[in-house]
Amino acid sequence: MMTKPMSLEQVAEAMVAPGKGILAADESSGTIKKRFDSIKIDSTEVNRRDYREMLFSAIDAMRSSISGVILYDETIRQKAKDGRPMPELIASTGALPGIKVDKGTKPLPFCPGDTITEGLDGLAERIKDYVALGAKFAKWRAVYDIGLKVPSWSSINANAHALARYAALCVEGGLVPIVEPEVLMDGGHDIDACEGVTEWVLREVYQQLYYARVPLEKTILKPNMVISGMKCPKRASREEVAERTVRVLKRCVPPAVPGIAFLSGGQSDEDATAHLSLMNQLGPLPWRLSFSYGRALQAAALKAWGGRPENVAAGQRAFAHRARMNGAASLGKWTDEMEKAA
Ligand code: 13P
Repeated sequence: MMTKPMSLEQVAEAMVAPGKGILAADESSGTIKKRFDSIKIDSTEVNRRDYREMLFSAIDAMRSSISGVILYDETIRQKAKDGRPMPELIASTGALPGIKVDKGTKPLPFCPGDTITEGLDGLAERIKDYVALGAKFAKWRAVYDIGLKVPSWSSINANAHALARYAALCVEGGLVPIVEPEVLMDGGHDIDACEGVTEWVLREVYQQLYYARVPLEKTILKPNMVISGMKCPKRASREEVAERTVRVLKRCVPPAVPGIAFLSGGQSDEDATAHLSLMNQLGPLPWRLSFSYGRALQAAALKAWGGRPENVAAGQRAFAHRARMNGAASLGKWTDEMEKAA
């Protein structure tokens, strides 16, 4: 019997299903090289395939805690060792394959320190290709640094417009768009600065999504948390991060959006988990709050693996643990003790 294809609303709901979240494994060639440099292995096509296959075939973790996987263009076209295409391997665990479709950032003219994310030209055709390869959702990341004169209105406006154009093309082409405006936590700014910029960015993004006529029910938001800059000496507590993030989201994100899946942005693994759990304890909330972590889901697994085939089981165990912790956090049920027990 043929099963009916999922509607985009159903895909969006499934991406933030209770107890589950998204694995962001869509590092560009440059970024994955940096990750591999940290464990001193070469970033070859085979190594990249083996590493990612290790994650996607961690069957218990995938089944119980991962709703979807964001892939890079290279990976969606690769085959696992047994010959199955990667999207098929992912789908066999019950998770949905997704694809990063932006082409990265370029400096924004006349706005020193600001960037614009590129990739709109030809996107409708690329979306067709990705749908044929099995993708169910997509991702586009806009990036905003906080500094003396950044981000500028020009960058906030241009990036929101690009996100909205991307989202409209995705929905029309049959993919759920993950709308990702990332306010970086790299600077020395305090949490007030992060709150102000995050609110401005999100308000502009939802304004542009409205102008582009994007049905919000078919979208997922992937924001940063409201958090102290990495180099800021005054650290906001976990509770404050949770409260401020939820406050800003309530101001800016319409309840029509089914789910919000955070990026980790350079937080420690446990902070990313704790923040998500605390936020979910502040309910009831109008949308599901979950994760779409890259580093905070992968760092321990990457280290345990270290590029050695004999460490695949250890890498999968490390990944399974983080996936389980974040799955619990998406229900507001993570505790410090669970971390120690493992
Ligand atoms: P991090 O969780 O490592 O920030 O990565 C998430 C992501 O997809 C960034 O675009």
